Amino acid sequence: MAVPREPPSGAGTARDTTMTEQSYFTLLHLWIAAAILLFPVLLRVTVPYGRHASRTWGPVMGNRRGWFLMESVAVIAFSWFLLAGPGPRTAVTWVVAGAFLLHYLNRTVVFPLQMRPRRNLPVLVVLFGMGFNVVNGYLNGHWLGAMAPPRGPEWFGDWRFLTGAALFAGGMALNVASDRKLLRLRRAGNSHTIPRGGLFELVSSPNLLGEMVEWCGWALMGWSPAAASFALWTVVNLVPRALDHHRWYHRRFPDYPPERKAVIPWLL
Ligand SMILES: NC(=O)c1ccc[n+]([C@@H]2O[C@H](COP(=O)([O-])OP(=O)(O)OC[C@H]3O[C@@H](n4cnc5c(N)ncnc54)[C@H](OP(=O)(O)O)[C@@H]3O)[C@@H](O)[C@H]2O)c1
Repeated sequence: MAVPREPPSGAGTARDTTMTEQSYFTLLHLWIAAAILLFPVLLRVTVPYGRHASRTWGPVMGNRRGWFLMESVAVIAFSWFLLAGPGPRTAVTWVVAGAFLLHYLNRTVVFPLQMRPRRNLPVLVVLFGMGFNVVNGYLNGHWLGAMAPPRGPEWFGDWRFLTGAALFAGGMALNVASDRKLLRLRRAGNSHTIPRGGLFELVSSPNLLGEMVEWCGWALMGWSPAAASFALWTVVNLVPRALDHHRWYHRRFPDYPPERKAVIPWLL
């Protein structure tokens, strides 16, 4: 999907630009390979945060501060590389970038503030999250700021944009509403309970389903290999986590509804 571009005046030769593009695509291919290799590992490892929190991964920090630190890196890296690129940046660029930043505004500020304070997050998880966000922020910010083919307003009528935007909005609404429901259950001072209502009747983790739908939608509306790699990474991270959550419910609640699936209604 390389898009040959003329270098901006005074910004180096065409050969430099080609070299940079080659390095970009090498990194992107390695990044996709890493996601594929990580998947079987994550199927075997329960990452100890959230409801699985423990101290088995070494030092811990406060969950609110940890989530803020980890996710603010996504906002900074993505915005930096988006703005550092030579463009062109069209209305399509800003809408696609705005959707990314809207998600991360929630994840960086709103979501941590809804959590119960004084819960722990392993420092190692925060460091892994920061590393992921630097690479993902670079790949997607640089694509939008430097490599994307210029798209005019006609893109807003393209089926890829329309379908992707609808999936993004629906996925984000499901993710935010389901996270809020779980965190409310907990903040009310209750112990863990079986969540009821809406998509919780069909799957254990509608929040994770929503996030996967959201980034698949974003990949469609932006139609780029970088966004597709982000969607892949999201699935690789969240399918194993949803299976962990599902097993956790079954261990904890003998009366857990047997027909409920882990993350994909009627299937998985
Ligand atoms: N894009 C990615 O790669 C990625 C990776 C991971 C997470 N995420 C997102 O981060 C968000 C959180 O995911 P998560 O897996 O960390 O969430 P989670 O563990 O399912 O839930 C978060 C918190 O909600 C409370 N909770 C969960 N289930 C509960 C229940 N049955 N009853 C009462 N309280 C309950 C727990 O609070 P307490 O800790 O106080 O018990 C838990 O720590 C999701 O939106 C997810 O999509 C994204």
